[in-house]
Amino acid sequence: MNITSRDSLPASRKIPKVSNENLPFVHSYWRYAHQQAPAFFFTVKTTLLTLFLIYIGIPIFVKSNPWIMPRVVFANLLRWPPFINLSSPADFGLLNTRHFYLNVEDNVTVGTWHVLPKSLQDEIEHISWDEYEDQLRNGKKVFLYLHGNSGTRGSHHRVQLYKLLADLDFHVVTLDYRGYGDSTGVPTEEGVVKDAYFVYKWLKQRVGGSNIFLWGHSLGTGVTTKLAKILCDEGDEPAGVVLEAPFNNMQDAATYHPFAFPYRRLPWFEWIFLQSLGDQGIYFKSDESISSVTPHILILHAKDDLVVPFHLGKKLYHKAKATRTEKTKTVEFVPFEANLGYGHKLIYQAPEMADIIRQFIVKSESSD
Ligand SMILES: *[C@@H]1O[C@H](CO)[C@@H](O)[C@H](O)[C@H]1NC(C)=O
Ligand SMILES: *[C@@H]1O[C@H](CO)[C@@H](O)[C@H](O)[C@H]1NC(C)=O
Repeated sequence: MNITSRDSLPASRKIPKVSNENLPFVHSYWRYAHQQAPAFFFTVKTTLLTLFLIYIGIPIFVKSNPWIMPRVVFANLLRWPPFINLSSPADFGLLNTRHFYLNVEDNVTVGTWHVLPKSLQDEIEHISWDEYEDQLRNGKKVFLYLHGNSGTRGSHHRVQLYKLLADLDFHVVTLDYRGYGDSTGVPTEEGVVKDAYFVYKWLKQRVGGSNIFLWGHSLGTGVTTKLAKILCDEGDEPAGVVLEAPFNNMQDAATYHPFAFPYRRLPWFEWIFLQSLGDQGIYFKSDESISSVTPHILILHAKDDLVVPFHLGKKLYHKAKATRTEKTKTVEFVPFEANLGYGHKLIYQAPEMADIIRQFIVKSESSD
C-alpha cells in the first residue's frame, strides 16, 4: 500500500487543498498591517522611551528622596483589601477573638488581636471581653505572631496561620506594628521592634507560667530575631522561635528582591539602594542577632519563594548553626519543595505543618 496516497488517509486527516479563496484575506491583512506600521512603531518607541526614563528615573528619585526606602521596605500603606474593619475579627473568620489597642509610647497605639485556643473556644459559650486577659493565665501556650511587610494582621495567609495555631490549642496574639492597619505612628526598624517588645512584655505579665513562642514571617523574621536577641540578652528568653521565609539581612533581602532585579548588576546599585537603606536606619541584621538567640529555632522556607529567595533563609540557617554553643539550643531547617507551590506565603498549607509545630514545641520544652 502506498502510504502517501491521500485517499488512504481517513477523511478527517486529509490535507486541505490550498485554495485561492483564502488569498484576498491574506492580502488585506498585510495591507492593513502596512498602513498601521508607522503608528505601531511610534507606540513601540514611546513605550521603550517611557520604560527607559522610568528605569533611570527610579535610582535618581531614590537617591534624592531617601525617605522613600522605608516606605518601600515596610509597605505599610499598601493595604489590600482596602475596606476592612480590623475592629471586627469575626469579619476575617476569627471567632472568639478580642480586638484591643495597646499604647506603646506617646502617639503610638497598636491594634492587637487575641485568638483563643480551640479547646477554650469549644468550652466557653460566651466570654466577655474583659475575661480574655484572664484566660491567658489558663496554662495554654502562647504564640506571638509578627507579620511581614504590606497588608495588615488581617491578611488572608496570616489569618489562616492563626487558625492553624489556635486549632493546635495555642493562644495567638498578633499586632499591627506602628503605621500598619489600625495602629498609629510611622514604622522604623527600631519602632517596630519596640512594638513587638511591648506586646511580648504585656503578655509576659499575664501568662503566669505559660511559655511564649515567637513566630515571624518574612520582614517579621527580622523583627522576631532582633526581639529574641534583646530578650535573650535580658535573660528573658522566649520558649522557642519560628522563622518562616526569613532573610539573613536587609542588604541581601533588598539585593535579591524582584524589584531590584533590573538594577542588581549595575555598579552603583549598592551606592544608590543599599546605602539609602542604611541611611534610613534599616539593616535587620538577623545574621548577627541570631547568635544571641538561645532557645530552639525552627526555620521554614519554600524553594519557590520569589520574594525572599530560599538561599537567604539557608544563609541565616548556616549562620545560626555556626554560632551555636553549649549555652544555645538547636536550630532546625525545614525546606519545602518548589513543586508544592507554597511560594512566599502559603507554607501554612503544608499538611505536615501541624506535626512540625507539635514536634518543635515538644523539643523546645524538653530539657536538652
Ligand atoms: C467595625 O466593627 C466594630 C465591631 O464590630 C463596629 O462597632 C464598628 O461600627 C465597625 N465599623 C465600621 C466602619 O463598620
Ligand atoms: C505626639 O503628637 C503631637 C501632635 O501631633 C505632637 O505635638 C507631639 O510632639 C508628639 N509626641 C511625640 C513624643 O512624638
